[in-house]
Amino acid sequence: MKTLCLYYTRTDTTRLAMERVAKVLGADLAEYTDGKDRSGAIGYLGACVASFKKSFPEVSVREDVQLSAYDRVIIGMPVWVEGPCVVGRAFINQFKDSLPAEVYYVVTHMGNAGYDAKIKAMDNILGREASGYVSIKTKNNAYLKDAEAFANGIKK
Ligand SMILES: Cc1cc2nc3c(=O)[nH]c(=O)nc-3n(C[C@H](O)[C@H](O)[C@H](O)COP(=O)(O)O)c2cc1C
Repeated sequence: MKTLCLYYTRTDTTRLAMERVAKVLGADLAEYTDGKDRSGAIGYLGACVASFKKSFPEVSVREDVQLSAYDRVIIGMPVWVEGPCVVGRAFINQFKDSLPAEVYYVVTHMGNAGYDAKIKAMDNILGREASGYVSIKTKNNAYLKDAEAFANGIKK
């Protein structure tokens, strides 16, 4: 089973979670981005503003990454403003036709809310039901252990 782990990250949390998932699964790892610098307080505000826009930003992945070459793709993203971030949803929207049968979501967030309904709603963008997802609380939580447990749960 050839697996690709993808992540969008602003402050490296989702990157670390996806690195752990990739390590457990022996998967390839790549970042996707909309190319915007969202570091610091101004970047945080930019992320908030982007969350309220109706349109999706254009996103990209390293040129050598061939999505269709994988049996399984796991898409990591943070929560922004009470739901999976717009960059993650934009990725699904832009690349849904190139994604393999097995797609999983890994969503990181600070708070206690799980955002399950909003994570599942990404299936409407994907156009089909994802194979599964995990919602990972990052603050005051050993979140890399949660990422590892998720990966072990889907290991084949
Ligand atoms: C603009 C913005 C909005 C956020 N909104 C929420 C939120 O509604 N609920 C929550 O639990 N965390 C929220 N967070 C926190 C992030 O989801 C959390 O810190 C995440 O793990 C960061 O991942 P990253 O380091 O990969 O960017 C928000 C972060 C940003 C930048």
